[in-house]
Amino acid sequence: MLAVGGVLDAHALEAIHEVLAGDAPFIDGGHSARGGARAVKHNEQLAPDSAPSLAIAGMIEQRLRAHPVVQAYARPRRFARIQVSRHRSGMGYGLHVDDARIEGVRTDLSFTCFLSAPEDYQGGALCVQEPGGERCVKLAAGDCLLYPASTLHRVEPVSEGERLVAVGWIASEVRDAGARAILYELDQALASLHDGVEREQVALTLHHIRGQLQRRWMDR
Ligand code: NI
Repeated sequence: MLAVGGVLDAHALEAIHEVLAGDAPFIDGGHSARGGARAVKHNEQLAPDSAPSLAIAGMIEQRLRAHPVVQAYARPRRFARIQVSRHRSGMGYGLHVDDARIEGVRTDLSFTCFLSAPEDYQGGALCVQEPGGERCVKLAAGDCLLYPASTLHRVEPVSEGERLVAVGWIASEVRDAGARAILYELDQALASLHDGVEREQVALTLHHIRGQLQRRWMDR
């Protein structure tokens, strides 16, 4: 997983909150959940084809595509639905896994962009299961968490305040998550050459990449 800071700047956040300030058409989020997810999903979502939803989805997709770190990490080919989700007091989303295909788009990465400041609500952390255990995060408004769409994850119940996020899915140009990670690391190594990072550190990254490629390609 990767937390990317400042995907939405103050200007973009202001524009989004302005769209939401009117009587934005929030509906029960349970309708769009399928299978086991339906029983554990307690939130509200902006009606998917409504003008506010489309406007916000467009803004967020544009910002994500323009962000160099998102570009290097996710290599987006297509975005599936981007939806605004609202959790109010008592609402959460139990442990579930996202669909492998959403609106005809293969989901390689899921993302959550936080639209509320963390101090505006209690609870509401996004918890993602990783091989080493569960990681729970609550990011600043404008930051996005990207994580493999295959992971089990949940949203802790909100006990106070209101949690607004935009969630969505990305089909990557590089389907293989391991290969995507290696390309990301290579991009970082290349960028660090320009940033004047110590030679030893670049060498360490290159050794790390070589090790991964050797393990992929060597038969024994
Ligand atoms: Ni989910």
